[in-house]
Amino acid sequence: MSTTQQSVAIVTGASSGIGLGLTQALLERGWRVVATSRSISKSKQLKPSPDLVLVDGDAGRKETAVKVADAALKQFGRIDLLVNNAGIYLPKAFTDYTEEDYNLVMNTNVASFFYMTQQVIPLMKKQKSGHVVDISAVVADQPSGAAPAVLAVLSKSPMPAVSKALALEYAGYNIRFNTVSPGVINTPMHAEDDHEALAKFHPLARMGEISDIVDAILYLQNATFVTGENIRVDGGVHAGR
Ligand SMILES: NC(=O)c1ccc[n+]([C@@H]2O[C@H](COP(=O)([O-])OP(=O)(O)OC[C@H]3O[C@@H](n4cnc5c(N)ncnc54)[C@H](OP(=O)(O)O)[C@@H]3O)[C@@H](O)[C@H]2O)c1
Repeated sequence: MSTTQQSVAIVTGASSGIGLGLTQALLERGWRVVATSRSISKSKQLKPSPDLVLVDGDAGRKETAVKVADAALKQFGRIDLLVNNAGIYLPKAFTDYTEEDYNLVMNTNVASFFYMTQQVIPLMKKQKSGHVVDISAVVADQPSGAAPAVLAVLSKSPMPAVSKALALEYAGYNIRFNTVSPGVINTPMHAEDDHEALAKFHPLARMGEISDIVDAILYLQNATFVTGENIRVDGGVHAGR
């Protein structure tokens, strides 16, 4: 297969959890992937492959986004899908958050989306096709008084609105923007000891699996008439109690 026929994805936060699962799923389906995180080159779970390029860097910095987009263009010649997945979760009482906490969460969860998405759009415009998926979180719909995490709310709730705005701005170039909003997912983000309690947070009485989120992203990738959408993959949390 020639370089231009194989689809190319960029996945941020690809060393662990959802990003790792998505990268593996795309590779299994014949995609070429530029996978990035601060420590991705040390990953033991991603096997070397001509279809995989690893780029280390802090997703909150513009220089990382430039490096990642350049790598995709140089190695694979196009970008069909960007998944803005890198993120951290820092639950605390609101007044306990420090200036460092604010900068860390907003850079990792929001600036990463901003810089990386800016880098891919010019190429997608030239291609007259492309798709950007942003990973939000259920806290945007259903914050919890029992587990306060306002920086998660502040950094994740703009994603559905921003996806809609960009979907409209770039619809004329056939570039789609969608959001996936996970409930609590079984990834290294959550300690095993908390799993039982976290399962109870969902009407479906279980935590989500990485494959639940990967399936939603793959659905959106194939759903070429869907843009500006927010898919909640949250075991029913957004519906209420
Ligand atoms: N798990 C959940 O319950 C849940 C629920 C709702 C939303 N989400 C969202 O889903 C996404 C993935 O979460 P996950 O559960 O898969 O988390 P995870 O297993 O902790 O993985 C987080 C990924 O982000 C990367 N990362 C963290 N800080 C970074 C930075 N400054 N620069 C570059 N990469 C960075 C990490 O890699 P390095 O450490 O190598 O940089 C890692 O690859 C996040 O946006 C998260 O907010 C998760």
